[in-house]
Parts: sequence; C-alpha cells; structure tokens
Amino acid sequence: MADHFVEYPAPTTDARAVDYSFTPAEIAQVQQHVAKYPDKTSVVMPTLWIAQEKFGVLSTGAIQLVADTLGLSFAHVYGVATFYTMYLKRGVPAQPFHLVEVCTCFTCGECGGRELMAHAKKALALDGEGMSADGRFWVREAECLGACDTPVPVQIDNRRMAFNVDASKFDQIVEGLRRDQTPPFESVPARKLELQ
Ligand code: FES
Repeated sequence: MADHFVEYPAPTTDARAVDYSFTPAEIAQVQQHVAKYPDKTSVVMPTLWIAQEKFGVLSTGAIQLVADTLGLSFAHVYGVATFYTMYLKRGVPAQPFHLVEVCTCFTCGECGGRELMAHAKKALALDGEGMSADGRFWVREAECLGACDTPVPVQIDNRRMAFNVDASKFDQIVEGLRRDQTPPFESVPARKLELQ
C-alpha cells in the first residue's frame, strides 16, 4: 500500500449515548423506497444515506438501526456500509465536522494532489485519521473524482466540488467552512480541444 493512503477505521462503538431511531417522517421516506423494489436489500443504500444525513456518520448504532428498520442482518448492512467510501464510518464525533476530500489518485496525485494533501495536514494539524486538531474537519484522500483535467479537485461534505484547488484556494475553502459557508457552485471548467 502506498504510504500516502490512510486506512480508515471500521465503524466504532459510540462514545456517547445517542437515540438511534427514525422519526415517522423518516420511516415514511424509507417506505417510499421499499415500495419501489421487490426486496428490501435494494433499499439498504438509500436507508443508510438517510441515517448518515441524520447522525452525521454511520457508527454501529446507525447501522443496527438500518438493519432493524429493514429486517435485515447487521452483517449485511455493515457489508454495504463498509464497501462504499461515501458512507462515513467513524464513532460519533464530538461536534459536527466538514468532510473535505482531496483527489490524490494518479492524475491529480501527479499534478499537485499529494502536495495539497501535505498542505492540508500541516495547515489543519490533521491526526493519523485525517481529523483536524480542532475537530471541525475530516480531510481524507479520494480516489478519482471524475474531474481529472482540473487538478486538484476537492469534494466537500459529499456534495460540492471545487476545481483547480491549490493551497491558497484550499485555505479559502476552509475559512468559509469555518463559518459554515459552502463554497459557491462551480461548473466543471471547459477546456478547448486543440486538434492538430
Ligand atoms: S484522478 Fe483526480 S479526478 Fe481523476
């Protein structure tokens, strides 16, 4: 394994008591998904997403809630939750955090991704799992984000993309997020093809 990859921990037991339950409105949302498919295993992913939106991360309690809600085994839901990187597996954080993902995959890694990650580690005093010293940011390396011609792309909170991010733009993004301001939408910059 290349040394710039970090192994992320498996879902952990919660450090504090959390009421793992869905509201009637959330159950109704789950039921809408259930109605679309012949079997409930197809609904694991949207239900995990609902749980993640609610609890911030998928700790064991959240995974168990999804399993119980759908009448499936913990092992099955755990397997799905741990397969996909967009599902966040951590213990319950002390406070809400922003997830910032820096592409260090091959193209971006060669075009500044690794340097940007090193900058992030230093600027935010990240620990071994990528959590900032103040607990406000979880920064991690991403595999290809599908914007290889705009190195370095950064994905924020699984929703917003920023392109051509260098250290200075990264710092601006972080400063905005400290005030809970998501960076403005950017369309993928178009490149002119120079055909010879
Ligand atoms: S390698 Fe970074 S977006 Fe594709």
